[in-house]
Amino acid sequence: MTEAVVITGGGSGIGRAIALRVAKAGGSVAVLDRDLERAQDVERECWEAGSPRTLAVGGDVSSEDDVSGAFDRVAEAFGGVDGVVANAGIEVNGHIAELGLSTWRRVIDTNLTGTFLTVQAAARRMRSDDRGGSIVCVSSPSAFVGFAGGSNAAYGSSKGGVSALVRAAALDLAPDGIRVNGLVPGATDTPMLYFGLDGDEREAERRRLRTLAEAQIPLARMADPGEVANAAFWLLSRESSYVTGSHLVCDGGLMAKSANDF
Ligand SMILES: NC(=O)c1ccc[n+]([C@@H]2O[C@H](COP(=O)([O-])OP(=O)(O)OC[C@H]3O[C@@H](n4cnc5c(N)ncnc54)[C@H](O)[C@@H]3O)[C@@H](O)[C@H]2O)c1
Repeated sequence: MTEAVVITGGGSGIGRAIALRVAKAGGSVAVLDRDLERAQDVERECWEAGSPRTLAVGGDVSSEDDVSGAFDRVAEAFGGVDGVVANAGIEVNGHIAELGLSTWRRVIDTNLTGTFLTVQAAARRMRSDDRGGSIVCVSSPSAFVGFAGGSNAAYGSSKGGVSALVRAAALDLAPDGIRVNGLVPGATDTPMLYFGLDGDEREAERRRLRTLAEAQIPLARMADPGEVANAAFWLLSRESSYVTGSHLVCDGGLMAKSANDF
């Protein structure tokens, strides 16, 4: 399942780390990202890491035309698709009483509709090639628990939808030998955590998050994106051949722990 892999949002963070993990294992890698330049940088890195065939495609996962066009290009370049990671996502926070409808729609369009369109395009391609496959959808702890800091209605709802979609798609696609699973990364040190910050602000936020992680995460640190990529790689690979409709939690123990001391 790791011979030819498409990764949405592969231009940064967790998606980039998954692309490099697949490349190091000798798989072909297609990176779809709305930021084409970053996708091309990662494409180059994958090539240098040993990927035999690489492709960078610019596009927005919330656009049906962009997603289906990207899968057509991948099929043409690679001859088919074995693995797909629906990873592209954004987090925009806002108190439920103040959250604007346009913000809600932007988060749902990217995270949930983008995942739906990616899974659908992947399923259509894999079914027509009749060769099975593995699809991994990147969810979040917020699909299962509320974030203590609050203001997470849009993001949490989008990821709750992603996790429900994983189960529904797994049942629909099992007869075709296509597995669908969710990956649940905990706090992972990626650019998403520092969106809109630069220079000193960024470093101050990183120090704040590291201190928080030490105090509150059982493993006492944030994840490196490469650790999350290893979990994604296992779900993509044949090592997980009997796993579908499931979630792999890679969160340093975050969800195992209640914030309360009683
Ligand atoms: N970093 C964390 O702590 C964390 C924790 C749990 C889940 N996640 C999830 O992991 C996934 C990756 O997050 P990350 O931390 O690597 O973020 P990131 O911001 O580093 O990378 C996200 C990538 O997605 C791309 N992208 C965003 N919207 C897009 C769109 N509409 N179309 C195409 N590409 C788009 C961005 O250009 C970027 O390259 C997201 O789904 C996120 O919700 C992250």
